[in-house]
Amino acid sequence: ATTAIRGRFLDIQNTVAQARDIHDQVRYVEDGIVIIHEGKIQWFGPWQEGQSRLPTNAELQHYPDQLIVPGFIDTHIHFPQTEMVGAYGEQLLEWLNTYTFPTEIQFQDASYSEKIAEFFVQELLKNGTTTALVFCTVHPESVDALFNAATMRNMRLIAGKVLMDRHAPEALTDTAETAYTDSKALIEKWHGQGRNLYAITPRFAPTSTPEQLQKAGQLKAEYPDVYVHTHLSENKNEIAWVKELFPERESYLDVYHHYGLTGSKSVFAHCVHLEDEEWDCMHQTDSAIAFCPTSNLFLGSGLFPLKKTWDKGVKVGLGTDIGAGTSFNQLQTLNEAYKVQQLQDEKLSAFEALYHATLGGAKALSLDDRLGNFNIGKEADFVVLNLNATALQQLRQSRAKNIEDAFFALTMLGDDRNIAATYVYGVAVYVKAAASE
Ligand code: GUN
Ligand code: FE
Repeated sequence: ATTAIRGRFLDIQNTVAQARDIHDQVRYVEDGIVIIHEGKIQWFGPWQEGQSRLPTNAELQHYPDQLIVPGFIDTHIHFPQTEMVGAYGEQLLEWLNTYTFPTEIQFQDASYSEKIAEFFVQELLKNGTTTALVFCTVHPESVDALFNAATMRNMRLIAGKVLMDRHAPEALTDTAETAYTDSKALIEKWHGQGRNLYAITPRFAPTSTPEQLQKAGQLKAEYPDVYVHTHLSENKNEIAWVKELFPERESYLDVYHHYGLTGSKSVFAHCVHLEDEEWDCMHQTDSAIAFCPTSNLFLGSGLFPLKKTWDKGVKVGLGTDIGAGTSFNQLQTLNEAYKVQQLQDEKLSAFEALYHATLGGAKALSLDDRLGNFNIGKEADFVVLNLNATALQQLRQSRAKNIEDAFFALTMLGDDRNIAATYVYGVAVYVKAAASE
């Protein structure tokens, strides 16, 4: 079946090497139409031209007052931490022991995993996030639960079982061998099934023995197409601990690099305190960073140097990092990203923000050939935004100077109230119920 959506569209047409080039790639179509066939964009352009291309039996949805942008991409999030957002008072290592590990133990139970996976996926969609790179727990049940929930909605998720064979409670550990065999079975079961993709997911260097990291690297070598997803250089005490545990390695990133875990499908969350050689290694291996502003502020980890990603030619996406992050919403995440930049005397323009949340995130996940904008042939994942969800937003938007100013104000004032509808593979999988503020 062919469907079509008419409305006001904003996206970034092409990936760029420098932030200053984004402005030239902004595409704003005030009255446009996207024609969708079998989940993909068959045509996109101005309404007048598109009208004649519309098959007579096509279903047409019109959003005259909204703004349609590509679906938001979350490059780092933990689904089992959904229930523990906002756990008080600790920084990373204490926070893991005090709050995270006890929470994650519950996911050995398949029905508990299913319940939270369902909630998690609905929460993503309610916030306009159509693709995410997701940590599960050590339990294969948690991975099955999440991919089942994604499959029901045709959603493109990347996820994997956590690998962890030391420095964690017994109920949360595997071994080097079971990490390998369980992950391999999950790859065979899920990678490339529908839109699902698999990520080999060592939690972080301190919770894996060298033997386990070696097995993870062996698996990656066997399945080069599969992702690698882990944490890197988030917190000063964590970095000191890695140096103690792996004295033979030159740096924290060198631990992963040594075991064959860097590359164009490797995503490292945080990277707040990278050293120069680590930046060089990120660039040379075409690895990507997930920038998680709400998490880095919440855990007091530090200010991520976003500008360096452009200077060093390193791919970066935006991550919510729920449950250390404090919001599922990418507008709120951009709000805090802007302030992280301000504290470093740097800027984050509205269009750069849009880029990071959409096409730039797709590039970080090596999915920019399929996701991230309205180019013909891409997968039809997008968000319908209501810019005027509150009285304050209405007042502010009525004074907006142009689309750039309007989008900037949205990132400062917006949240899930602004998500009017979320489309996945051409289908409205979330529609906000009509309600007063
Ligand atoms: N480092 C290792 N595990 C975690 C986690 O669950 N959350 C965050 N933010 N950092 C980590
Ligand atoms: Fe994380």
